[in-house]
Amino acid sequence: MSAQGAEIEVEGRRVINFTSNDYLGMAAHPRVIKRVQSEVSRHGFGAGSAALLSGRSTLQAELEREIAAYTGAESALLFSSGYLANTGTLPALIGKSDFVAHDRFNHASLIDGVLSSKAAHRRYPHLEPATVTESMGRSRGQNFLVSESLFSMDGDQAPLPELQTTAAEHNAVLYIDDAHGFGVTGDGRGASAILGRTGNRRPTTIIMLTLGKALGSAGAVVLAPASVREYLVQRARTFIYDTALPPVCAAAALEALEIMAIDNQPVRQLQTNIATFRSLAKEAGLVLLDSTTPIQPLMIGDDRQALEVSKKLYQQGFYVRAIRPPTVPRGTARLRITLTATHTSVQLENLVAALLATRNL
Ligand SMILES: Cc1ncc(COP(=O)(O)O)c(C=O)c1O
Repeated sequence: MSAQGAEIEVEGRRVINFTSNDYLGMAAHPRVIKRVQSEVSRHGFGAGSAALLSGRSTLQAELEREIAAYTGAESALLFSSGYLANTGTLPALIGKSDFVAHDRFNHASLIDGVLSSKAAHRRYPHLEPATVTESMGRSRGQNFLVSESLFSMDGDQAPLPELQTTAAEHNAVLYIDDAHGFGVTGDGRGASAILGRTGNRRPTTIIMLTLGKALGSAGAVVLAPASVREYLVQRARTFIYDTALPPVCAAAALEALEIMAIDNQPVRQLQTNIATFRSLAKEAGLVLLDSTTPIQPLMIGDDRQALEVSKKLYQQGFYVRAIRPPTVPRGTARLRITLTATHTSVQLENLVAALLATRNL
């Protein structure tokens, strides 16, 4: 596999890539590469130890400050990955006597984090938090409401203002995983922008965003009030007992953030590509799931047929992965088409033509 981009090499074959979460084309952006090359000679590669020992470099501290400023958060704490951020933060904050309401389609790392807290919990039907308000009303501990902002398999979005209101009404802490929303929604600021703009009463809100998707690097950041950040530094086991993120990963994320923030051009280009693809698909009679995000699933249903279509597309030079159970519910195998700011309109037109040709396999 070559470097990320709209066109990549897979096992020696050049293909147009519709599988990547590098939504803004930052993973191999020339400016990011140049910045990393220059920082690596100063900082070396590995962090060498956990952040609480000597693993925290000035670059990591700068990244926390910059992301907090960009999203309007009080503070930010850097983890080595989104998986570690979720599985460390949730059990650090949630006690055995608390209650957690969480979306049925949440990412595995959120589920693992909730389960390891040993708190009572209920998984509510996808996007329907109202169905668990009664249980929250009965809870005697602290309530938590946990959801992804943009769901990674369907490309649909959580009703963030409704979650915010529900959390405020039930005195719940709102925990949002913005792995796929940051850099994409809310003019790039993701869930922070959407939640910040509502006039609702604000519950305590914690947002986890990953640096390995729209920012094209690796790692994750938890945005939280300063007192929560301080608590996590003392209590989140995946922060305390983990070798810190290599400083050059922080440098790559910092550079990507700067490129993104200058004039929002990559974010706007991504939105244009999403609109272009959806309109081409509609004209061609292809029925996509109702998603306005870069994740555009084309439902196939049958596992084997989904694999077959993916294989045919690959033979024609398009890399599109079939997603099957257990990642998605039985009978909902699909092609997960992910769009990026770096796709050209010709590449989008060609994909739609290829999808049409393979539709009736
Ligand atoms: C919704 C969601 N949360 C968390 C993660 C984990 O992030 P990371 O890949 O940085 O561990 C992912 C990544 O696949 C994700 O899609």
